[in-house]
Amino acid sequence: MSADIIYTKFVKGNVFTINEFFSLGVNVYCDCRRETGESSHLVCVGGSDNTGIWGYIQCFAELRQQAVEFDDIVCVCGSGGTVSGLAIANYLCGMPYRCHGILVCDSNQYFHEEVNGNLEALGVKDVRSEDIVHLHDAYKEPGYGRNLPCHFEFISQSAVQTGVILDNTYTGKAAYGLRDLMQNKPGVFKGRRILFIHSGWLFSFFCI
Ligand SMILES: Cc1ncc(COP(=O)(O)O)c(C=O)c1O
Repeated sequence: MSADIIYTKFVKGNVFTINEFFSLGVNVYCDCRRETGESSHLVCVGGSDNTGIWGYIQCFAELRQQAVEFDDIVCVCGSGGTVSGLAIANYLCGMPYRCHGILVCDSNQYFHEEVNGNLEALGVKDVRSEDIVHLHDAYKEPGYGRNLPCHFEFISQSAVQTGVILDNTYTGKAAYGLRDLMQNKPGVFKGRRILFIHSGWLFSFFCI
């Protein structure tokens, strides 16, 4: 959250956090602010609402335009919007990629339910999450936002050897999981060309 606030300050916005009780009146609150000429947007947990999911459908379209060739696409799974958007776009476009989500919290069942809910909301009735998303839940320990020494070692190695900075909550743990799968369970992948989505979060480094 602190990272979100810092980011919002950079773009000269304001963040208001609301508790569950107040959320009942939040739309009225947003409307009032709009009347004063301000724009406001309600962001749900992880940003995994319709806007967030369409963001990753758009991301998929951009990938196609870049004509990068790959067999598998791998992302981190924290609230499910990223993997939903990518897998749904892959399915609807009839593309052959295998979509993977590496969990940093919750369970495979929880995320399949999320993706199924998103498929339903988009009116896609002929497929289930279980058919289009491959989830990997072995890398979330010791818990959300918490790490083992091997994660930090991996994050540091990545920075030194490739210049790619990963964060400790999302991309670092997912890329760590990806490396382990590639080394120890390569059969989970469709092919050898694996695209890892770096989903950001660099602002979290301001908060350490
Ligand atoms: C940098 C970063 N990557 C990935 C995720 C997880 O993606 P999703 O919530 O769409 O599963 C988040 C937040 O939830 C995030 O901040």
